[in-house]
Amino acid sequence: MSIITIHNLKKYYGSGSSQVKALDGVDMTVAQGEFAAIVGPSGSGKTTLLNMMGGLDLPTQGEIIVDGVTLSSLREEQLAVFRRKRVGFIFQNYNLVPTLTVEENILLPLDLDGSSPDTGFLGDVTELLGLKDIMHVYPETLSGGQQQRVAIARALSAKPAIILADEPTGNLDSKNGQNVAGLLKMTTELYHRTLVMITHNLELAQLADRVIRMEDGRIME
Ligand SMILES: Nc1ncnc2c1ncn2[C@@H]1O[C@H](COP(=O)(O)OP(=O)(O)OP(=O)(O)O)[C@@H](O)[C@H]1O
Ligand SMILES: [Mg+2]
Repeated sequence: MSIITIHNLKKYYGSGSSQVKALDGVDMTVAQGEFAAIVGPSGSGKTTLLNMMGGLDLPTQGEIIVDGVTLSSLREEQLAVFRRKRVGFIFQNYNLVPTLTVEENILLPLDLDGSSPDTGFLGDVTELLGLKDIMHVYPETLSGGQQQRVAIARALSAKPAIILADEPTGNLDSKNGQNVAGLLKMTTELYHRTLVMITHNLELAQLADRVIRMEDGRIME
C-alpha cells in the first residue's frame, strides 16, 4: 500500500525567461513503512519535493495524496492540521525552540494539537535516542548530535504517518551523522513509520530501502 502518491507534480517559480522549473513532472509513490532516500545535485528540486509532501508548499500543477488525503483539496487551516497530525519534520539545523526544554520540545507537536501524549511510547523513544538524562535542559547546551536526536523524538511524538528529513546529518561530522541516521532508521523501522530523507551522503543513502535520484526537477530512473 502506498502512503505517498505523487502524480505529474510541477513547481515553477517566476515566469518568462527567468522561470525556474524546480519540479518538472514528478511521479512517484512511497510505500507504507518504506525508507526512501532522495539524492541529487544542489538545486535539483529535492527540498521542493519534500516540502510538497509535507504540505509546506503548494504545487503549480499535479497531485499529492498522503495517507489518503489529497493535499490540493485542503484549505490553509486544514493543511496546518494535516502537518501537525500526519507529518514529522526533521531539518538540517534541528529547529528546536530555544526557550523550551528538551521535553517541552518533544511534546510540542502534541501540545499544538491539544492531544495527550502516549507516555509509554515516549518513554521508549527517549530511551532509545539516549535522551533520558537531558529531558530538562535547554537545547543551547546540547551538541548537534544531541539536538538532532531531540528533533527525531519530536518528529515521532505525535505518531505521524510520514517522517520527512531534509539533510538531517548535514551539520554533523561523519561519526555523529552515521549515528543520527542509524537512530532515525532504527526508530522509524521499529514503529513502522514511513521515512523520506534527503541526503548528500551516498553512504547514508545506502541505509534506505530505495534511493531516488533527482536531476533538474525530475526523477531519474
Ligand atoms: N522560493 C523560491 N523562489 C524561487 N526559486 C526557488 C525557490 N525555492 C527554490 N527555488 C529554486 O528551485 C530549484 C530547486 O530548489 P531546491 O531547494 O528544491 O533544491 P535542492 O535539490 O533541495 O538543493 P540543495 O541540495 O542545494 O538543498 C532551485 O533552482 C532553486 O533556486
Ligand atoms: Mg535542499
